[in-house]
Amino acid sequence: MKLGQSDISVGKIAYGCWRFSQNDSAKADRIIRTALDAGMNLIDTADIYGFNRFPDRADKGFGQAEARLGDILTAAPSLRKQIVIATKGGIDAVQPYNSSFRYVMAAIDASLERLQTDYVDLYQIHRPDVTTPMQETARALNEIVKSGKARAIGVSNFTVAQTRALQAHLDHPLATLQPEFSAVHQDPMTDGILDYASETGATILAWSPLGGGRIPQKDGPVQAVLDGIATRYGTTRAVAALAFTRAHAAHVIPIIGTQNPTRITELGYAAQINLTGREFYDVVEAYRGKLMP
Ligand SMILES: NC(=O)c1ccc[n+]([C@@H]2O[C@H](COP(=O)([O-])OP(=O)(O)OC[C@H]3O[C@@H](n4cnc5c(N)ncnc54)[C@H](OP(=O)(O)O)[C@@H]3O)[C@@H](O)[C@H]2O)c1
Repeated sequence: MKLGQSDISVGKIAYGCWRFSQNDSAKADRIIRTALDAGMNLIDTADIYGFNRFPDRADKGFGQAEARLGDILTAAPSLRKQIVIATKGGIDAVQPYNSSFRYVMAAIDASLERLQTDYVDLYQIHRPDVTTPMQETARALNEIVKSGKARAIGVSNFTVAQTRALQAHLDHPLATLQPEFSAVHQDPMTDGILDYASETGATILAWSPLGGGRIPQKDGPVQAVLDGIATRYGTTRAVAALAFTRAHAAHVIPIIGTQNPTRITELGYAAQINLTGREFYDVVEAYRGKLMP
């Protein structure tokens, strides 16, 4: 499967590094290799991952998740070609959102340095900065692709209107859109983002596809329906939840975030499960109420 209209091949499930910087380097290495073994070649990170405004350190952890991945790649350079690195910039720990030309160009250079690579496969604007004209952000993204610093570009947490406005000034199609999407957060099905992805061929990278832990750890009507599906396929509720996101007709890749290697392997099984339409709509109805009287 390709990432949007790019020629980048990706697995059906992705691994995300938001919670990654808490690990020592041995555990971090094990996590990345387990994810690759489970078919998750797209590793999603961001310059802000690791940031915590409270620790008594000058950098407060900004860049820490990227640096940890960079260390793994330095120790095992052959991994670079196996990993599709997706990073993000545009959350400035102070402002907090900044997508000005100057900021984005400096941000990608800093990310490349921490990741210890001369290109990333996907560069994403993390959140919309409504104080910067879309033309200006587009100029930065155009320059990033032209200079070979990224093979493809994407956005995260943009509305459909914001995505269209940015796309109008880009030389290349946005390969990915990254909204929060899960069985317990189904807004992208009604706010137009998934339909926009279908229209343009962009891939959806679904963040927090287990609701950040709410799906496996809490009970409710959605979880009860997922349990029924899981029993039918001989699997777990978490796997059924990932299969739900993949069942939408848009190209959806859930980005999982567990730090537990056993769970990473288990969740890889979701790539093999294709829910029926009835099962998919059972989850929708558990979330939204009956679709038919
Ligand atoms: N673009 C954005 O604004 C944005 C925002 C948030 C996240 N993201 C991306 O999405 C990725 C995933 O986010 P997420 O970590 O919230 O995803 P998630 O997979 O929905 O949630 C992972 C959390 O669920 C917990 N969990 C509990 N039981 C579990 C089970 N049985 N199986 C798996 N996990 C279980 C994990 O704990 P354990 O570690 O103990 O298993 C972990 O804390 C991030 O790493 C990042 O790449 C992007």
